[in-house]
This record gives sequence, structure tokens and C-alpha cells, in this order.
Amino acid sequence: MNTHEAIRTRRSTRKYRPEAVEDDKLEKILAAGRVAPCGGNSQTTHFLVIRNQQVLRELATLVRESFAKMEIRPDMCKALQAAISASKKGHSAFHFNAPILIVAANKIGYGNAMADCACAVENMLLAANDLDLGSCWVNQLRWLDEDAAAREYMMKLGLAADETICASMVVGKPDTKDGLPNRSERKITGNPVTYID
Ligand SMILES: Cc1cc2nc3c(=O)[nH]c(=O)nc-3n(C[C@H](O)[C@H](O)[C@H](O)COP(=O)(O)O)c2cc1C
Repeated sequence: MNTHEAIRTRRSTRKYRPEAVEDDKLEKILAAGRVAPCGGNSQTTHFLVIRNQQVLRELATLVRESFAKMEIRPDMCKALQAAISASKKGHSAFHFNAPILIVAANKIGYGNAMADCACAVENMLLAANDLDLGSCWVNQLRWLDEDAAAREYMMKLGLAADETICASMVVGKPDTKDGLPNRSERKITGNPVTYID
């Protein structure tokens, strides 16, 4: 798959088969994240790769319980409001039972923390598509970065005290008929462009 095709056909996958992802494929995805551009070539993005299914289940429960305690405010983005609302009803809005969750963290107070992590995650989403794997950005741990229980749990997994969670993504084998990710092209209705010639 060439670069343009990988970009054009990448879509979010929210249904996964339980099978594990081959180690060599995961390594390629992580290599794509680690080589992403970063401010000042700082290379401070920390990738936590969670493959332990018990840990993923515990995280899903923690996320649901933490969201269920939150109040929905009008200034919150719609996706966060939906996640809180689903959690209050006992539904899990988290990792879609994918076999792998990759968390991207960076230094607290570093001005390019989010930008560096976003570059890394996008590279990994594209690499997953190229490898015929499904993937999806999941923002719950970012939203819960200041939640004491979530932080404590993530620090047990290796998040350093001076790191903030910027993003996370799931990856796995898509639960589709042919086993390939949905690659239908998305209609672009926003993202305006202004040319200044
Ligand atoms: C910053 C960011 C946060 C996102 N958070 C979530 C999320 O928490 N859960 C989810 O299912 N999708 C999440 N997504 C995926 C978007 O919903 C998705 O990219 C968008 O709807 C376009 O669809 P596509 O990825 O299939 O092209 C997120 C994407 C971005 C860039």
C-alpha cells in the first residue's frame, strides 16, 4: 500500500476478533510511532503497550466507573458527553475488546506533548491499515488523565510521575467477513481550505 492509499483508506475499527496480533506487526506499528516527527527531536513520547487482557478488562471497568461519576457539562465535547452518558447506563465506552491498547504519554509541561503524541498515533494508525489491521484512537484515558484512580492504575503499569497521557489507540484484527478493515472512503464535510495565491 502506498502512503496516499494508506492515508485515504484509514478508517476507525470498533469491532475486533479476540485473536492476538503477530509480534512482528506490532513491532512495525510501534516503529512507525517512534519515528514520527517530534518537536526539537525531543523523543519523549512514552508508548505503553497493553496486551494483558485482564489489565484491559480492569481498565475498562475503571474507565466506566470514573465516567459514571462525572457530571455532563455543556462545554464538554459531544464525544465526552456520550462516553459519560453511556457509562452512567453501565455501558463501556472504551477499547471495543481489542487485544491491544497503545497509550501515548509525554512529559507534563512539555509544550509539544500532545502534538508529538498525535503525530505518533497517526503514524501508528496508518501503519496498522497498511498491515491489514483495524485500529481506532480512543480518548478516554486522556480525558481521565487527572482522575486519581486512573492515574494510580496507569502508574502501576509504568506511567512515570512526570508524564501525562495524551492519547491512546486500539489495534487488532477487524471482526469483518473478510477479516480486513473497513476502508470505505469518508465523505469530507468540513475541514475547509483557504488558498492565498
Ligand atoms: C483526538 C481524537 C479522539 C478520538 N476519540 C475517540 C474515542 O474516544 N472513541 C472512538 O471510538 N473514536 C475516537 N476517535 C475516532 C474518531 O471518531 C474518528 O476518527 C472520526 O469519526 C472519523 O472516522 P474515521 O476514523 O473512520 O475516518 C477519535 C479521533 C481523534 C482524532
